[in-house]
Amino acid sequence: MKTEVFNATTQKENGARHAGRIIRDGGLVAFPTETVYGLGANGLDGEAVKKIFEAKGRPVDNPLILHVASKSDARKLWSSVPEKARVLMDTFWPGPLSIVYEKSERVPDEVTAGLPTVAVRMPDHKTALAFLREAEVPVAAPSANASGRPSPTTARHVLDDLDGKVDVILDGGPCRVGLESTVLSLAGTPTILRPGAITREMLEAVIGGVALSKSALSPLSEGETPLSPGMKYKHYAPDAQVLVASGEPREAAQRIRRAYDLETAGGKVCVIFASVQTQAFYGGRRYAIIGDRTMPETFCANLFSKLREFGSKADLIFTEALPHEELGLAYMNRLLRAAGFQTL
Ligand code: TXA
Ligand code: MG
Repeated sequence: MKTEVFNATTQKENGARHAGRIIRDGGLVAFPTETVYGLGANGLDGEAVKKIFEAKGRPVDNPLILHVASKSDARKLWSSVPEKARVLMDTFWPGPLSIVYEKSERVPDEVTAGLPTVAVRMPDHKTALAFLREAEVPVAAPSANASGRPSPTTARHVLDDLDGKVDVILDGGPCRVGLESTVLSLAGTPTILRPGAITREMLEAVIGGVALSKSALSPLSEGETPLSPGMKYKHYAPDAQVLVASGEPREAAQRIRRAYDLETAGGKVCVIFASVQTQAFYGGRRYAIIGDRTMPETFCANLFSKLREFGSKADLIFTEALPHEELGLAYMNRLLRAAGFQTL
């Protein structure tokens, strides 16, 4: 198939309308959101949804998020709407929060991978919302990367992974947040299955106590069943080996320099992901500034694109850790997975 790319600014109406039609006809559309690009299909059509799994090479037991243009569209996808869901939608939608709750009969098993629950979110992105309105159905969409690769934050990333496998790409420029949505389950004790830009602290301020799934910061142990199936797969993995240096920045830099000078790195090509505050610790070595420690959102916005940029050029990528709180938790969740949990 030939992949068509529409510029979401100059071809605004056309692009959204055309993409909406493709969805109703059972095709695939990659679209921008505030988090990452999604790979969408008609979420009420099991056959269309199967094409997503084929295009990405995604394991079929990993459920998808349904994207909607309004809160009232979301309500029809759950068996009922708990009070906490109502309050969270009013506070954080449109926005990077996916809410998991018991599904209604309208939702096909292909979306939920047979689970009795479904994840729903309303993205905070003009192009996404225009496209969802034109589609007139909920759109099932995982991140628009080939399975296992870093999630795409530009249309170029989507093309690199899925050219010829998707009917249309809506190019809305780089994604603002850069990490996927927070996935919160309200089926039972409210639990964060995947941390994101709507932080635990923000959620607790609105609905009280929220648990954090153990898989947020540690690998699953052998035979363990994850609450969120996506957590068991290798993720965000570039070709290069990623190593995370923990501790205060100066100490982390020392660890990196020791490892680089003395052991593992040898003659390998190595890139250090540094912050503006710590670049001085690395002297003339090759490094990429990926953010500002006082603004963790800058780390989040850049992580996936830098992993893509250097993942194939370098053999080793050293990175500094952020504290595991607020946005730092979402960042470390992705970074530790990209590193296969290898820390220095
Ligand atoms: O920001 C995002 O969420 C992006 C954009 C495109 O909206 N989408 C995204 O989808 O990241 P995906 O498929 O890459 O990640 C969805 C995550 C997976 O970890 C999946 O296992 C989990 O959500 N998930 C989906 N439905 C679930 C359910 N019913 N119960 C538990 N986990 C669920
Ligand atoms: Mg994904």
